[in-house]
Amino acid sequence: MSESKAIQSRLESLIQALPKTELHLHIEGSLEPQLMWDLAQKHGVSLAYSSVDDIKDAYQFEDLQSFLDLYYQGASVLLDEDDFYQLMWAYLCKCNEQHVVHTEIMFDPQTHTERGIEFSVFMKGFERAIKQAENEFGMSVYLIMSFLRHLSEDSAFACLAQAKPYYNMIKALGLDSSELGNPPSKFERVFKQGKELGFLIVAHAGEEGPADYVWEAIRLLDVDRIDHGVRSSEDPSLMEYLKTHQIPLTVCPLSNLKLCVVNDMAQHNILDLLDMDLMVMVNSDDPSYFGGYLNENYLALLHNLPLTEKALVKLVKNSFSASFLPKETKREWIAKIDSLL
Ligand code: HPA
Ligand code: ZN
Repeated sequence: MSESKAIQSRLESLIQALPKTELHLHIEGSLEPQLMWDLAQKHGVSLAYSSVDDIKDAYQFEDLQSFLDLYYQGASVLLDEDDFYQLMWAYLCKCNEQHVVHTEIMFDPQTHTERGIEFSVFMKGFERAIKQAENEFGMSVYLIMSFLRHLSEDSAFACLAQAKPYYNMIKALGLDSSELGNPPSKFERVFKQGKELGFLIVAHAGEEGPADYVWEAIRLLDVDRIDHGVRSSEDPSLMEYLKTHQIPLTVCPLSNLKLCVVNDMAQHNILDLLDMDLMVMVNSDDPSYFGGYLNENYLALLHNLPLTEKALVKLVKNSFSASFLPKETKREWIAKIDSLL
């Protein structure tokens, strides 16, 4: 084997073997075409597809909105508690296979409550799967409740109120859906209330939207992390701020490629951001729609960018540092990574 092949092979093994976290994952975006098909059959829901392959073939997107249109349609098959259990359980099994030991999962209540599904239906389904994964796999799982930014702030307030019986299951609040035209400032009041209730805060910003939206998320929402944030590189003073304050950016390489945020993986800026000492790490976003779970995202970097072992290890360690785990737990996982190298 040539030396470069041997290095590639070592890095591929490390990607699988290292304990990892995932910090940017929409549970509704982990709905695999087969499960979507099966649940449609179960409930007699008619889909705009004639087969599982037809669903897969439809996943060609030109931007965020073209994806979101199919993502919300796909979620229409999720109707009863067991559907939400199966959705969550399938993702957590995938985490276990890929050696993801901790995950912080976003869910979109309004996608379901707008269709008449009660909070208790999805929260109980999620809870059953999460408890099972904690028991069977020893995994830790946090939930992030995300508001849909194409809806009003009043709708987000209603969502926050409806979630009250489940506050003990929710670690953080997030902001997702159509970014352009829906800046963080639209949700300043509801996040202020969320913060007062003790939730941590994340927000999608700088995916399709400009660097100014990242500034708004920082200054107006007081975020603990930015989801995506890759367009921050367009503003040198923002880059300096993110570096100084080590505000994490939860980067999603395959998502950025599939939604045409970048035209080519070889042009992705994640390694440049890492070189500039920004707190970036790898995530899968909506794996069933974007063609890969966490390890496939790392592999996409390995196969298209000059990823070194040092950079890989830093990305994986960052995934723990930027998590909402207790400090001591982070320290233990990072020491475990060092012991494996
Ligand atoms: N961006 C915004 N909203 C989303 C995404 C995303 O990547 N995935 C699911 N909802
Ligand atoms: Zn996302």
